[in-house]
Amino acid sequence: MTVVVLLGGPGAGKGTQAPILAEHLGVPHVATGDLFRAAVRDGSPVGLAARRFMERGQLVPDAITIEMLLQRLSAPDAADGVLLDGFPRNRAQAEALDEALAERGSVVSRAIDIDVPADDLLERLTGRWVCRDAGHVYNEHTNPPRVPGVCDLDGSPLIQREDDREETVKARLALTLSSLADVVDHYRRRGVLRVVDGRQPIDRVTAEVLEAVDTIEGRAGGPADSAHPANGVDPKGGA
Ligand code: AP5
Ligand code: MG
Repeated sequence: MTVVVLLGGPGAGKGTQAPILAEHLGVPHVATGDLFRAAVRDGSPVGLAARRFMERGQLVPDAITIEMLLQRLSAPDAADGVLLDGFPRNRAQAEALDEALAERGSVVSRAIDIDVPADDLLERLTGRWVCRDAGHVYNEHTNPPRVPGVCDLDGSPLIQREDDREETVKARLALTLSSLADVVDHYRRRGVLRVVDGRQPIDRVTAEVLEAVDTIEGRAGGPADSAHPANGVDPKGGA
């Protein structure tokens, strides 16, 4: 089972990189934010419970989030692994994931932190557009679609997320970055963390993210010696 966790603050580029990385790994892309947005659209009990937290830029309570994620992990398509985007987001979620994987005889193989300073994130999010049907991500400044308002990949209309209003973005940044630091620390201590500089152009970030998973021990396509600095090891990391 290959379980890879993509970390990063709101707007760091998780959703931009995740589909490429998931295809590369041959595992489904599971984003808790996408699962919550789908639940809100469906008007399900999880959606009704999550909505008021999302609107305020707060994390949805762990009990709801962890149960939803564990259910998704039990789906047949996740049997060989999964790419997680936006989960875990605090230490309790990281520990719940470790426990659930241990029951399956597995562990998180790699955690990749897409690191972008908080000051850059506000501008990114207020310029973001996502496609209605599949969530493909654009930015009116840095990554515009070929035709304004239309997704390059599937032709569906581009919309702005409700939580990308400036006030909500500020709340998301203020309320989520410190618990994210705990999660980064959790994986650094386990020696599976790689940090990628998310201020680089999108294709450069992609190259470094792919390289970070190709150094997973036992995976075809890369050297097994993940402790070598040339493999992008986090200088503050270590088992
Ligand atoms: P979620 O949907 O996960 O939102 P988020 O973490 O705030 O992250 P985003 O999706 O906003 O950013 P991203 O990193 O995916 O960036 P993107 O690639 O789109 O969660 C939403 C809400 O759900 C949370 O606030 C919370 O309420 C709830 N929730 C979700 N998970 C939870 C959990 N585990 N626990 C509790 N609650 C949870 O890129 C952003 C923009 O930047 C785009 O315009 C893109 O084009 C641009 N961009 C990307 N890369 C680059 C680059 N290299 N250079 C320049 N621009 C770039
Ligand atoms: Mg996202």
